[in-house]
Parts: sequence; structure tokens; C-alpha cells
Amino acid sequence: MDRDPQAHWLETETALHYARAAVRIGLWASEKSLITKYFHPTDRLLELGCGGGRVALGLLQAGYHEVIATDFSPIMVSLARAVLADHHPEWERCVEQQDATALTYPEAAFAGAIFAFNGLMCLPSRAHRLAALRSIHRVLKPGGVFIMTASDREKGANAAYWALEKSEVDEVPGDRWHESDTSPVFIHSSTEAETRQELSETGFTTLECPLSTEVAHDGPAVQAFAGETRFYIARKS
Ligand SMILES: C[S@@+](CC[C@H](N)C(=O)[O-])C[C@H]1O[C@@H](n2cnc3c(N)ncnc32)[C@H](O)[C@@H]1O
Repeated sequence: MDRDPQAHWLETETALHYARAAVRIGLWASEKSLITKYFHPTDRLLELGCGGGRVALGLLQAGYHEVIATDFSPIMVSLARAVLADHHPEWERCVEQQDATALTYPEAAFAGAIFAFNGLMCLPSRAHRLAALRSIHRVLKPGGVFIMTASDREKGANAAYWALEKSEVDEVPGDRWHESDTSPVFIHSSTEAETRQELSETGFTTLECPLSTEVAHDGPAVQAFAGETRFYIARKS
């Protein structure tokens, strides 16, 4: 891998794209449905890879006031703070810079964690994903719930794209640089079996893993922003 898979997230134009999404798109109907199913408004929640603050803003507006939104990228943290401050002066304090693979919070500090819109899959390798999952597991309380998504390369709307790809171009199956509105972005697309295995290996029990289209109708703006993805809801066992 010659290019730096993390560089995309450090660019101002990329951060602006996600800040606009925070204001214009907000929480997806599918996210809202699963968040209200698994989290109570008094739960202390940790968001990983918060980007421009889209999910954090939605959570705060929905009455989840114990939210800490984090991202490793300084420009994402700055823009997420600006977006949240624009809605409520105190909300900018909810945003902190943290690398998901090495969280510095105390053990069992959170009732729930969210790594939205394929954030875990933007990490450069399986080893990085496992490090992040172990780190998230550590800061969750026993029985705490983790919600994440991953693009499914085997089933659903993205399967046809992957079927057209020749497997011999894959150094690691599912690893790919994709064109984006800004610079090319590295994302891993997984299979359900693979992500279930990574969750299990790091101490989580998968409770359910529906495609986003099976959870709710997300509408054209969300479809254009994100397409279809698979949710994984897992409990710290
Ligand atoms: C696809 S974007 C999703 C942004 C936001 N959650 C949303 O749904 O609009 C992935 C995010 O993960 C962040 N990210 C990538 N690697 C990370 C890491 N090691 N630790 C924390 N965040 C990371 C990126 O900076 C980016 O903000």
C-alpha cells in the first residue's frame, strides 16, 4: 500500500463534506431506529470517528446528553466542534480528539459506543480494526452495546459491484481505494462472516446485523451520501 490510507481524513475538503452532511443529512432513519432500540437517553455514549458531528448532533438533538464524540483527525474535531457549537454553545465540549485504536478513557466508562458509517472499515488493516475493537471493548461497561456499520461485499446492493471486480486484483479481499467527492478514500468492505469473526475475537457477541435497507427506508439524500451498509449490533460479553 503506497498511499497513506489515513491522509484522506486529514484534508479540509473532506472534513467540510462531513460537516455539511451533519447539517444537511443528520441521523439516518435506520440509525435512529437502532439507537432508540438499544440506547436510553441517560446512557453515557462514546462516538468513534465522528467526522463533522453528524451522529453526535443527532444524538444531542434527540435528548442523548451524555455524548462524547471523537475523531483522530484534528480538522474533523475542529469542524465537529463548530457544527455542534452552532446549535448549542455547550455542545462543542462534547468533541475530543482520540484515535479509536488507542482510546485513553478509563475501563468501563461508557454504556454504549457507536462507530457510524463504515468508520471502522476506514482503518488501514485487519490488525488496526482488531486494535480498535479491543480498545472500544475495554472502555465499555460489561453488557455495553456497540453499534457499527460495514459495507457488505457479498450481499445486498454492493454485491454486484464486487462480483464485477476480479479477485486477483485484491491483495487483501475487500480492500479498495474508491473515488470520492474529494481525494480517493481507502475502505475495506467485509463479509458478514468476517466482521462477526472480528467482533467475536475481540470479546463481543453479535446481537443482530441487518442491512440498513432492512431497518428503515433512508430516503434519497442518505442513499446518495452513504448507499446501503450493514449494521452490526454487538454486546460486550
Ligand atoms: C466515513 S467517515 C464517517 C464520519 C461520520 N461518522 C459520519 O457518519 O458522517 C469515517 C470517520 O472515521 C475517522 N477515522 C478514521 N480513522 C480513525 C481512527 N483511527 N480513529 C478515529 N477516527 C478515525 C475519519 O476521520 C472520519 O471522520
